[in-house]
Amino acid sequence: MDSPLWTSLKQQSQATNRAFTILAPMEDVTDTVFRQIVCEYGRPDLFMTEFTNCEGLLSDKGREHVAHRLQFTHQELPLVAQIWATQVESYVAIIPELIERGFSGVDINMGCPVVNVVKNGAGSGLIRDFEKTKEIIHRVREKIEEIDPHFGFSVKTRIGFTLIQPEWVTFLMQQPIDALTLHLRTRKEMTRVPAHWELAKEYSQMREALNPDLVLIANGDITSRQHIHDTKVTYGFDGAMVGRGIFEDISIFSESPTHLSRGQRLQALRKHILLFQETWGNSKNFELLKKYFKIYLRDFPGSAQLRNELIIMKDAEEMLQRIDSELSHV
Ligand SMILES: Cc1cc2nc3c(=O)[nH]c(=O)nc-3n(C[C@H](O)[C@H](O)[C@H](O)COP(=O)(O)O)c2cc1C
Repeated sequence: MDSPLWTSLKQQSQATNRAFTILAPMEDVTDTVFRQIVCEYGRPDLFMTEFTNCEGLLSDKGREHVAHRLQFTHQELPLVAQIWATQVESYVAIIPELIERGFSGVDINMGCPVVNVVKNGAGSGLIRDFEKTKEIIHRVREKIEEIDPHFGFSVKTRIGFTLIQPEWVTFLMQQPIDALTLHLRTRKEMTRVPAHWELAKEYSQMREALNPDLVLIANGDITSRQHIHDTKVTYGFDGAMVGRGIFEDISIFSESPTHLSRGQRLQALRKHILLFQETWGNSKNFELLKKYFKIYLRDFPGSAQLRNELIIMKDAEEMLQRIDSELSHV
């Protein structure tokens, strides 16, 4: 195991005494367009793609539907591809393509709670199958060693299926992976309860005892720079992964807060829509853009009203016209 990506991130957090940062993988949110926009407001140390199904990629028909998830520009590097599959063989078979495409590493999703994923023995379903998990990890590690031992290898999971299961975390900590992200909730809890930060210190101590070289990342309800700081200093993790927190503050990864004026917010949304059109044309559902309104249309007088107007619009041109007319009054 010799990943410059994960080793340098760990060294960075030791040298600065601040957790390194990752934008959490979020389906239909963290695509190449959004990652490029985030870069303008202060990028995280690392990006991850949305989770991508290997069996889809491996079939001609399926590829059309999922390949967009792996699209990126150089600006987004370092970038890790997050994958999931139902068959062990599929995880292994996709590794050469990920290396070839120029990703910095691969992350296996072992936390997705969606019923269809779980019942196929993937995502958080793997928490109930230590044997299969071990086989996936060892086979993927073998493939990486064969092609490019520098390629990063990480796992993102939850801390149990129905109940909190310390044996699951200790088991993963002893596997041949470079990094482990713990979303501090069980599968059953989904995101309905606060993340279990009361257990965080115990997990970092477990890591020290079992595998001090393992890079450990915490995830769940991180919404402030202070919390990113505490993730290292108080809880002993190397990295902090932020998901929904980006909706509250798009500049959360910059060292100091950036106040965005009404005009800047509208310009940012405009830019997002244009880049979405340029990148995806008609190949992606334009309705997805509406997920991002919460980021831009907030914290200025009239923002809720404008959101309500834009949310019912049927195409991007109409939205752009409305935003332009707002901008002319800035
Ligand atoms: C819209 C949405 C999509 C998500 N998609 C993924 C995904 O593709 N892969 C993954 O590992 N987790 C996914 N997650 C979970 C997040 O990565 C993260 O673990 C979770 O939101 C908790 O972190 P937070 O409290 O910082 O949001 C998703 C979460 C949301 C809200």
